[in-house]
Amino acid sequence: MAGNGKTLIAPSVISADWARLKDELQAIEAAGADWLHVDVMDGHFVPNMTFGPFVVEALNRLTDLPLDCHLMIQQPERYVERFVKGGADWISVHPEAEGNPRQALELAMKHGAKAALALKPATAVWAADPFKDILEMLLIMTVNPGFSGQQMMTQCLPKYKEARERFGPKLLLEIDGGVKDENAAAVREAGAQVIVAATAVFGETDYKKAIRGLRGS
Ligand code: DX5
Ligand code: ZN
Repeated sequence: MAGNGKTLIAPSVISADWARLKDELQAIEAAGADWLHVDVMDGHFVPNMTFGPFVVEALNRLTDLPLDCHLMIQQPERYVERFVKGGADWISVHPEAEGNPRQALELAMKHGAKAALALKPATAVWAADPFKDILEMLLIMTVNPGFSGQQMMTQCLPKYKEARERFGPKLLLEIDGGVKDENAAAVREAGAQVIVAATAVFGETDYKKAIRGLRGS
């Protein structure tokens, strides 16, 4: 992988068994997860809905894992403060969404979260240029946002190298969409440092083995 340190694994809570949420969160912590990825969908930016800040606040009380909040919503600047106050450690917004993503990230930082930009598969890496001064992470998606369990678009993998060359060694690079045991080595090789996985963790019975497989150790 590019940069220093181990590959971080961020299971996406979207695919947890929500009727047993507390147990699920304890299980992924015990299995070695590094972050909890939190997919927020509004039914407008993406054709699916999940939850809002109220639920993030509950997740924050159920786990000590850093909360990596991926906002797939229009006008994120209207809601970001509530997500950060609810416990979001990272806020990712989409430049393709309506509204003011720059203002959203500045608000997130003001309230104590770290700023990240998430790019849809069809969005070029250079779309992050105007955010370069505030970004700590770039989330390069490998599926169209909206649903877990989709097939990875492997044609996106060269974007990690391009992002590394464009933005330097410090920017954390995150992958989200279709990562599984079989393609995890290629994903790490491509330069992704944070791996989001919904199906490839919560769809398995042995979370520890699943996380180890994704991390490659
Ligand atoms: C897609 C979400 C992803 C997704 C990942 O819109 O941002 O986080 O749930 O699911 P898997 O790992 O199953 O592709
Ligand atoms: Zn996500």
